[in-house]
Amino acid sequence: MATNHPLNIVILAAGMGKRMHSNLPKVLHTLAGRPLLAHVLQAARALSPAKIIVVTGHEATLLREAVAAPDVVFVNQSPQLGTGHAVQQALPELAAGGKTLVLLGDVPLIQPKTLQPLIDGPVNHVSVMTAMLTDPTGYGRIVRDARKKVKCVVEHKDATRAQHKICEINTGIFCYPTARLGKWLGQLKPDNAQKEYYITDVLPMALKDKVPVEGVVCGDAAQVEGVNNRAQLAQLERVHQQRLATRLLEQGVAIADPARFDVRGDMTCGHDVAIDVGCIFEGKVTLGDRVRIGAHCVLRDINIAADTIIEPFSHLTQAKIGANCRIGPYTRIRPGTQLADEVHIGNFVEVKASDIGHGTKASHLTYIGDSTVGRNVNVGAGTITCNYDGANKHRTVIEDDVFIGSDTQLVAPVTVRRGATIGAGATVTREAPANQLTLSRAKQLSVPGWKRPVKIKKEG
Ligand code: UD1
Ligand code: MG
Repeated sequence: MATNHPLNIVILAAGMGKRMHSNLPKVLHTLAGRPLLAHVLQAARALSPAKIIVVTGHEATLLREAVAAPDVVFVNQSPQLGTGHAVQQALPELAAGGKTLVLLGDVPLIQPKTLQPLIDGPVNHVSVMTAMLTDPTGYGRIVRDARKKVKCVVEHKDATRAQHKICEINTGIFCYPTARLGKWLGQLKPDNAQKEYYITDVLPMALKDKVPVEGVVCGDAAQVEGVNNRAQLAQLERVHQQRLATRLLEQGVAIADPARFDVRGDMTCGHDVAIDVGCIFEGKVTLGDRVRIGAHCVLRDINIAADTIIEPFSHLTQAKIGANCRIGPYTRIRPGTQLADEVHIGNFVEVKASDIGHGTKASHLTYIGDSTVGRNVNVGAGTITCNYDGANKHRTVIEDDVFIGSDTQLVAPVTVRRGATIGAGATVTREAPANQLTLSRAKQLSVPGWKRPVKIKKEG
């Protein structure tokens, strides 16, 4: 947008959202893992405005902390006397001239491309985005005149029975000539069912001033649906997830059931990736070619190289997983873990802040924390790295080709040298030398003539 026609974007987010029945302000409730307001801000930024102004009120501090950014100006609206009153609070911050686009913080799925026609028109125009809904209950209705021109908006609570039948609704998204806004907002009166200053009442004022009002119908209702209660939030979450799933399906990802698929961040997939039902992907997730994710896995900030299989019910956070690995079922990988290629981490194994070398296996019931494990190591069932002494964490180093027998405790800091074998049931507190068998168990003893106790019969 040219600098002589700056674009302001005002996002209304001061309301508390009574209908959510929550202590959290409505616009901080999350959709796809991010606050509703963050979604609206993302759409706003994509339009490269001169200014973004967020109107806060209810729980203003919490809200500001949640979405603070150098390009966002906050203004306070207290008390909250309606959407018109909210925009009025932003007036002193508006860049003069050009247009002011008003977005609602509780309409999260709006896309920049959809907003473009509103800001592309002549400066001295008012445009309102509308939508046709099969169930328009609760929304303001668009009243058009005999020539189908937008006349005004009537709130559901103020509407007549005949007006309730109108299916074209006000999305709450408007674009105004900035220079005119101050005058119009100054004339608003709270003479309606909610005793609020409605931004929608500006439309008849614009028409009276011979400023054309244009209704732009949005063909994609979900993009303009507002979140006023938890049911609507859950519905929009599904719509959003379905859309993300469709995009990935189109790219060739095999999603077993798009209705049981959740992305709460950014997901990138290679060729022939397969994802079973009930998985959640959070943060930045990258899956290489032919990676398979079993049912009910949770992956957060994970990078997985080609051909790796994650078996069901595994939970992986902030880790880098090599190619051709086999993880799970029931594996937990915690932050700071790196697995080289062809590693096998099996059921009920937890790995934290550790580097695991090529071809190493820990197949059952093990904890590996703060460790460096070499190549081709076999970690027996029930092995524990005792990394915490009650005050500090220490590292365990296991070099290449080590075999660790079952039920071993490695008390860190400790090193097991290359090719060492640790006999089952050992408690290793000192360095285990290379290529030797290290044991730390008492000699096995059998007691000749020993008899099992027998139950004493009670008399009577
Ligand atoms: C509003 C519109 C309605 C439209 C609907 C679309 C008005 C009068 N009504 O109704 O025509 O169909 O949105 O979703 O504009 N807010 C403030 N300060 C206030 C009041 C609200 O910042 O004093 C903010 C809220 O935080 C919210 C947004 O404005 O993000 C909309 O408020 P809400 O109470 O949800 O209005 P609706 O009843 O949905
Ligand atoms: Mg609303």
